[in-house]
Amino acid sequence: MENINWSDLSFGYMKTDYNVRCYYRDGKWGELEVSSSEIINIHMAATCLHYGQESFEGLKAFRGKDGKIRVFRMDENAKRMQSSSHGIKMAELPVEKFEEAVRKVVKLNERFVPPYESGAALYIRPLMIGMGAQVGVRPASEYMFMVFVTPVGPYFKGGFKPSKVCIMRSYDRAAPQGTGTIKVGGNYAASLVAGEKAHELGYAAVLYLDPKEKKYVDECGPANFFGIRGNSYITPQSHSILPSITNKSLQQLATDMGLTVERRAVPVEEIATFDEAAECGTAAVIAPISQIDDLDANKSYVIAKDGKPGPVCEKLYNKLRAIQYGDEPDVYNWVTVIE
Ligand code: PLP
Ligand code: COI
Repeated sequence: MENINWSDLSFGYMKTDYNVRCYYRDGKWGELEVSSSEIINIHMAATCLHYGQESFEGLKAFRGKDGKIRVFRMDENAKRMQSSSHGIKMAELPVEKFEEAVRKVVKLNERFVPPYESGAALYIRPLMIGMGAQVGVRPASEYMFMVFVTPVGPYFKGGFKPSKVCIMRSYDRAAPQGTGTIKVGGNYAASLVAGEKAHELGYAAVLYLDPKEKKYVDECGPANFFGIRGNSYITPQSHSILPSITNKSLQQLATDMGLTVERRAVPVEEIATFDEAAECGTAAVIAPISQIDDLDANKSYVIAKDGKPGPVCEKLYNKLRAIQYGDEPDVYNWVTVIE
């Protein structure tokens, strides 16, 4: 792998050696298959192409100082994928099968797991699609589950450097009682116009408000949101945000550090009182927010005046990374070593 510049990786696709696949036919899941092709063959009337029967996941594998490869909380991703399946009427994949696929694909692509020193990771992308041909709006009877991997660096330019995000009140990524709580492609399609607009204006991401009342903070396009005020870790509770595994982990770590965790509706104006704010997710890890511009309301919240990450974000970031890379004990059994 001498020609990969591990420390300069961005969050993008790179071909690796193998992917794994599994098909649901006649009411049951088959055996895992290994493929070296990047191409899949699907029927033109497959429901994923017409009616959005697609869900995906995102998790990471890390190489430790000891050379071992660790995958973070894959059981949680497996369960969330089941909840996505449930939400758009796809077949549910057993947790064990999901975990077996992740172990297999990481092992087969071991040479693409970045070295410890690089700070990069192997991104694991499981996805499920409706494969059966259907013209009426109905769920497919056949599904394909697959997992590919690709080595990645930071999702946001600069990594752990604060960036600006914006609120755009004329866009929603999910409906109040819709699919925001599951990880389906449609949510991301719905976020593309606002996302590109935000990028053109120089923002790292859009911070969405609750779609019903536009009074409360929901989450960012690809990550959850949290704020720090004094000794509190404050993060939105909402019917339209994805339950982030990173956020859930940070809430535990924050509690362990003696912070009070508040998971509740967060009024937009409350942002003005935060000492720190950040996006969090598998790809984003913790991406501190320096400023939030509420574009339609002509309001600006400056959070990191000195342009540096706040001390609590930094502590949480270091703690989370230390567990993921195996530098600190894994007291909650969050990590699976790939043998
Ligand atoms: N919110 C959205 C919309 C996401 O796409 C993601 C990424 O998976 C997250 C939050 C963060 O979730 P997690 O920490 O499980 O990666
Ligand atoms: C992740 O954090 O894994 C995500 O899926 C976010 C984004 C790349 C969609």
